[in-house]
Amino acid sequence: MKKIIALLLAVLLVMCCFAGCAKKQAATLTVAISPDFAPMEFVDTSKSGQDQYVGFDVTLAKYIAKEMGRTLVIKPMSFDACQAAVQTGNVDMSISGFSVTAERAENYNLSDYYYAGDNETEQAIITIKENEGKWTKAEDFAGKTVGAQTASLQMNLCNEQLPDSVNIKEFSDIGTAVEALRNGNIDALAVAKGNGDAILANNDALAFTGFEFEVSEEAENNVILLKKGNDELTKQVNEILAKALAAGLYGPWYEEAKKLAGIETAAEVGYDDQGQVAN
Ligand code: ARG
Repeated sequence: MKKIIALLLAVLLVMCCFAGCAKKQAATLTVAISPDFAPMEFVDTSKSGQDQYVGFDVTLAKYIAKEMGRTLVIKPMSFDACQAAVQTGNVDMSISGFSVTAERAENYNLSDYYYAGDNETEQAIITIKENEGKWTKAEDFAGKTVGAQTASLQMNLCNEQLPDSVNIKEFSDIGTAVEALRNGNIDALAVAKGNGDAILANNDALAFTGFEFEVSEEAENNVILLKKGNDELTKQVNEILAKALAAGLYGPWYEEAKKLAGIETAAEVGYDDQGQVAN
């Protein structure tokens, strides 16, 4: 009898150890974010450290971490680096205004849709004020240089819907692309409409061309990117998204993010060649 009790105690001890370890491992939730996409994710330069990252997706990430009882660690990096980090398992997930694309559906676990305000109900092209409203049809961009973010929906749209004579220029971050537009290095820049509004709010010299891409309705919502096959975490995330939706949190989060995007210290970060935040 004594032996059995001793054995049971030993087993219990080992189990407790494992539980403790498992808990420790899962104590943080690492989320890759490309903070160059106001109002979804951007930086507030009046703050520092993890606090500088703000926007709808940051609020969502905080909510998810809290619901899971984990500490959120935001890993800021370029949009394409976010996707690579999920694929290699370097982060638990990426929340960065992702639209559903065929390529992503194939290579990642995608969460259920979450509401992303009116940020991506339209996909547009911006330019300098002098060209405001001038280019309204795809053909109007013939021979022009149009920028888009690497590995983005906007890049796909440019490739699919603009004439072949358009020179499409890739930018790993949107801030640099805006700079190139202002400097005349590109003629125009493809953006989500809500993101375009946020860019224009801080750039008097820029305007919409008047052109809009044709987009499917499903592009209006966003999803969270998780590693292919990580079904357990995906299920957990979907339950939390359903909870946020039922609680009516998305609308107020979006309004708050939009307000923040208009403040003077709102900015985008820049990235180096490795997709890491440049100082
Ligand atoms: N929704 C677009 C996409 O899925 C653009 C997202 C860009 N996000 C960002 N954080 N820069 O490609």
